[in-house]
Amino acid sequence: MNDVAATDTYPAQMTRVTLYWVAVGLVLFPVLAILGLVMRTLQAGFFAATPPEWFYAVMTLHGLGMVGVWFVAGLAAMSFLLARYVRPSLTVSWIALGMTALGVVMLVAATLVGKLGVGWYFLYPLPFFSEGTWPDWATAALFGALAVLGVAWTVWSGDVLRAIAGRYRLSEALGWHYLSGRDGPDVPPIVIIATVSCIGVLAGLVAAVVILLLIGWEVLGGGTANDALLIKNLTFYFGHMLVNITMYFGVALVYEIMPAYTGRPWKTNTLVVLSWNTVLALVMFAYLHHLYMDFAQPRWLQVLGQLSSYLVSVPAAVVTIFSTLVLTYRSQMGWSLAPTLLYLGVMGWAIGGVAAVIDSTITVNQAFHNTLWVPAHFHTYYLMGVVLMILGGVYHLAVALTSEAENVKRSRVMAAHLVVGGYGLMLSFYLAGADAVPRRFAAYPMEVANGPLLAGISLVFIILFGGLGLYLWDTGRLCVRALRA
Ligand code: HEM
Repeated sequence: MNDVAATDTYPAQMTRVTLYWVAVGLVLFPVLAILGLVMRTLQAGFFAATPPEWFYAVMTLHGLGMVGVWFVAGLAAMSFLLARYVRPSLTVSWIALGMTALGVVMLVAATLVGKLGVGWYFLYPLPFFSEGTWPDWATAALFGALAVLGVAWTVWSGDVLRAIAGRYRLSEALGWHYLSGRDGPDVPPIVIIATVSCIGVLAGLVAAVVILLLIGWEVLGGGTANDALLIKNLTFYFGHMLVNITMYFGVALVYEIMPAYTGRPWKTNTLVVLSWNTVLALVMFAYLHHLYMDFAQPRWLQVLGQLSSYLVSVPAAVVTIFSTLVLTYRSQMGWSLAPTLLYLGVMGWAIGGVAAVIDSTITVNQAFHNTLWVPAHFHTYYLMGVVLMILGGVYHLAVALTSEAENVKRSRVMAAHLVVGGYGLMLSFYLAGADAVPRRFAAYPMEVANGPLLAGISLVFIILFGGLGLYLWDTGRLCVRALRA
């Protein structure tokens, strides 16, 4: 079932729509990364005359854009691989692509034209208290974009579940027969992970719909002001879910592609089933660690947040990391670019995960909350985790579709740039966080002199990370060839 070599037998239309999704990612990622470079440049103290509202507009676009881009790239790549076993709808994918493009245009207008600077989770009631910094239409464009993207991604994730349901019962798709010992079909890990992930996405998107309805009722229906704590709970439920599930999309690619290189199958067993079902139960509550500082939050929810944050990281991460090591150890695998990036991605997930667990410990959070430790940990499991996994997956597909021989020496240079540049940037965030440098400061005050210093040093590493350009060039070229074929 795990026959990854059969890439070129995929329906041509599925390949086509996937390549368009890849194009979206390959174009938007470097643009959004340059916005990151701009922020670090301003934080280093260069161009000090730049009005701070520009920093916040750029930060909002960078954050929302990155989270969105990697979510769609992950879902598209996972759907492509899933099409070996089930048939997700191509029409739905095309419609989602069109609606995503519309959402991106609205977000760009709201931030770069309207100077909306609410941050990626647009915490209520900030979007409505601009004090003249951004116009009302920018707030409307933000919520309009969220509505468009929310509908598109709900339908898309729902369609993946529909496709899975066309072949497996829900209990089978979640692998329960492996636990009960009853007869049932062989279910590849990617089907189980996709089922868990898409259920999670739908739960998160329901929260987003409730937010939009509550805010819509307040603004348009003349309702009374909303409860800010309720909206904060819903917002973080939605945001945290989307971010966590994006990780799982990346992990699904690792399970499906890695065996092609190691020559060892990665089969579903009771441990895999148990871990992913535990994730499904716990991921619903892990968001609560974002609200430790909210004294009005009921205490039992804080305890639940602490427990689920600790426990959710164990099953999937440990099983996946351990299995990746077992799969690669003495497998005589050639370290070409795709498996290297997949492997590095799993390790980045592990490192970022440890930093996240540290931050989700209530006593530590009291010191680290809103310091650069927060961007440090999520950039680690994003940039050095899921992004590398997806880049590896995309490169694997591009090479398989064109059968072009890889220049392994060049690949190693590329990977070295990403590792040294990426971890150098991460270190600048971690050291600043441990030194109490606050996050989301357009310019640092005298009291945190290490802020500009570390931001300045990080510029060198971000430029090194620019080795990504080689990857983009190579992969882009291969994808265009595949599209023309
Ligand atoms: C070369 C790559 C990148 C650079 C240089 C970069 C840089 C930055 C910087 C400087 C900040 C502001 C930190 C602060 O003071 O709070 C930031 C925030 C953020 N970044 Fe990145 N980043 C990169 C890649 C990514 C990736 C791959 C993702 C996600 C997939 C991402 C998601 C975010 C998010 C969600 C925020 C928070 C925005 C907010 O606080 O509203 N970044 N990034």
